[in-house]
Amino acid sequence: MNSEYVYINEVGPRDGLQNQKTILSSEIRLNLINHLIEARLPGMEVASFVSPKAVPAMEGAREIIQGLIDNAKGCEISVLVPNMKGFEMAAESGAEIITVVPSATETMNQKNINMGLEETVKSSCNIIKSAKSSNLRTRAYVSVAWECPYEGKVESSTVLKIANQLLSAGADEIILADTIGAANPSSVGLLFKQCVDEFDHKILSGHFHDTRAMALANVCAALSEGIRKFDSCIGGLGGCPFAPGAAGNLATEDLANMLSQMGFKTDVDLQKLSDAVDYCSDQLKAPLGGRMSAWLSKQK
Ligand code: COA
Ligand code: ZN
Repeated sequence: MNSEYVYINEVGPRDGLQNQKTILSSEIRLNLINHLIEARLPGMEVASFVSPKAVPAMEGAREIIQGLIDNAKGCEISVLVPNMKGFEMAAESGAEIITVVPSATETMNQKNINMGLEETVKSSCNIIKSAKSSNLRTRAYVSVAWECPYEGKVESSTVLKIANQLLSAGADEIILADTIGAANPSSVGLLFKQCVDEFDHKILSGHFHDTRAMALANVCAALSEGIRKFDSCIGGLGGCPFAPGAAGNLATEDLANMLSQMGFKTDVDLQKLSDAVDYCSDQLKAPLGGRMSAWLSKQK
């Protein structure tokens, strides 16, 4: 049995909801976030400061941040920003943890945030530096770290180079994201091994989509390399609107349950998490839940 702590960063309110047909108001999203805080998730990406024309479901990020100031009960609240304008809006709203989102390929950056690879990395580094000078914490994704829907397989040297640039700018954390769910336990183990050889494992995190049902297996491969921090999405929601083929994220309840059964500590209250899944499902008027949700609901 393993008694080490694993940090679960819930990304449902952002990655999960950004691509849903049903758009939830910021008030309902705030209710959902409060349910998730009650489930004792230690961290949560709650919104993105993006153009509402590009992603209508993310409108109202400011209200969400304002609603959480002094109410987060220790949950570390972060927001995604695509560019400097988004960063300025986030900082002005009172956000304390800023997440930038460069992708590892030219085309994915163009499709996602309308900038090329070099420009995106430069812009992300500038945002990180600005955040640091305002005493804000920063997380940095490297999206499509294994495979890009437009350019295919991604070289690990490209991912390592981008991670190095982001860390040199002052990023506190690097999240390797399998944005379309194309990685497998071998490729995940290999890339994290290379990263751990170069960087402290404590600043690395994994973000897996479950498109080909390998997300939990990918977590295990990363755990074997010493990674102890993962993103996941309540109910297995999720997918990037600009990455064709991106199905839902790894479900938080599946991740929390697997870690707990393996003996890792997470702090997550599975029953309260299940309540949050039910609330979200009611609001979206869609059945939701990870692969063990039927089993979990019978435990009530
Ligand atoms: N938040 C809100 N509005 C923004 C913005 C931001 N971060 N960045 C730019 N805008 C607005 C501009 O003010 C401008 O508005 P206007 O048309 O009313 O004048 C408009 O968007 C276009 O500005 P521009 O600088 O030319 O941006 P763009 O067209 O190159 O779009 C993004 C870039 C990043 C704003 C847009 O593509 C976007 O929000 N994408 C979403 C990415 C995303 O969420 N992906 C999924 C998560 S990884
Ligand atoms: Zn994602």
